[in-house]
Amino acid sequence: MAIKKVGVVGCGLMGHGIAQVAAQGGFTVVVSETEQKFLDSGLGRIDKSLAKLAEKAIEKGAPADQAKQQSADVRARITGSLDRKSLADCDLVVEAIVENLDVKKQLFAELGQLCKKETIFASNTSSFPIAAMAAASGRPSQFVGLHFFNPVQLMKLVEVVRTNETKDEVFAQARAFGEACGKVAIGCKDTPGFVVNRLLVPYMSQSLLMLERGDATAADIDTAMKLGCGYPMGPIELTDYVGLDTTLAILQGWVKAYPNEPAFKIPACLETKVKEGKLGRKTGEGFYKWQGDKKQ
Ligand code: CAA
Ligand code: NAD
Repeated sequence: MAIKKVGVVGCGLMGHGIAQVAAQGGFTVVVSETEQKFLDSGLGRIDKSLAKLAEKAIEKGAPADQAKQQSADVRARITGSLDRKSLADCDLVVEAIVENLDVKKQLFAELGQLCKKETIFASNTSSFPIAAMAAASGRPSQFVGLHFFNPVQLMKLVEVVRTNETKDEVFAQARAFGEACGKVAIGCKDTPGFVVNRLLVPYMSQSLLMLERGDATAADIDTAMKLGCGYPMGPIELTDYVGLDTTLAILQGWVKAYPNEPAFKIPACLETKVKEGKLGRKTGEGFYKWQGDKKQ
């Protein structure tokens, strides 16, 4: 089966980007949300991002009409929906909802009933076992992880995660889909955090523990890693960028599942910020204040 129609569940930070790069790759996309306001906000982000990309193409010498038409064609391939049934005939459904395993399992159980029998399922989870969601879907051989990175439009990697039950042809199709979205795909096993997050999230958590101990200020920790290691963002700024709720959910899941792993620790300051509703860039405040994509 060739993948032509792609469903994306969730139109938040990640879902809107996945819907956009899939449409840029030529796929027809349905993106599903729970409420109109979330759909409007995600589709609005896609409009802004496409306008920015067109502007950049024009700056680089592309004819303005052509660049604008290309963006309009990409946008026309994306439909928003509040009705899950619109996912039924998709060839691939990529889930990008809240980082909560029970909610994800419930969604996949529903999708397993709803979607045509050939549909391949993928989760964009940062940290949960793909096999647990695959089992809930009732079609474990047609299930992979497709882990994109934030901001999806700019980050060039996708991790393609296979379980012991993923069929070879499903893995190959998922990998080809990631590449058609303009990404470099790497294959990995179904381990906590796959490759990137297993390294990155403990690093982010260590930076917050350092802040709590008063070893240095947030700004100095971030400057140190930017200038000392050449990273584009420091770890605390990056935690704001990822979302404090998502980072906390990742760490909570790991601490519960692997209580003896010393790399998995929950900083108290992260819990406090989330309790206060300061979730980072997406709410305008986390460890820093944000205006849109810009740190203040
Ligand atoms: N769509 C289109 N254009 C965009 C965009 C988007 N979504 N986001 C930013 N841009 C544009 C900006 O408008 C800007 O354009 P101009 O040059 O015309 O001003 C350009 O791209 C560069 O953006 P910035 O000015 O913000 O500058 P930057 O060079 O700092 O790049 C960045 C931004 C790519 C985000 C960079 O800071 C970076 O790579 N940060 C690290 C991100 C990272 O590590 N992501 C992984 C997070 S972990 C994860 O995703 C996994 C998980 O499960 C938690
Ligand atoms: P987010 O909070 O920005 O967006 C989640 C969206 O899903 C919200 O708009 C919410 O309304 C919607 N949603 C929740 N339940 C739903 C349902 N049942 N059906 C349809 N929509 C539903 O979160 P995010 O940062 O986009 O994260 C989404 C997933 O991607 C998580 O699993 C996260 O771990 C993973 N991820 C996040 C990042 C990151 O940097 N934020 C990077 C890679 C992967």
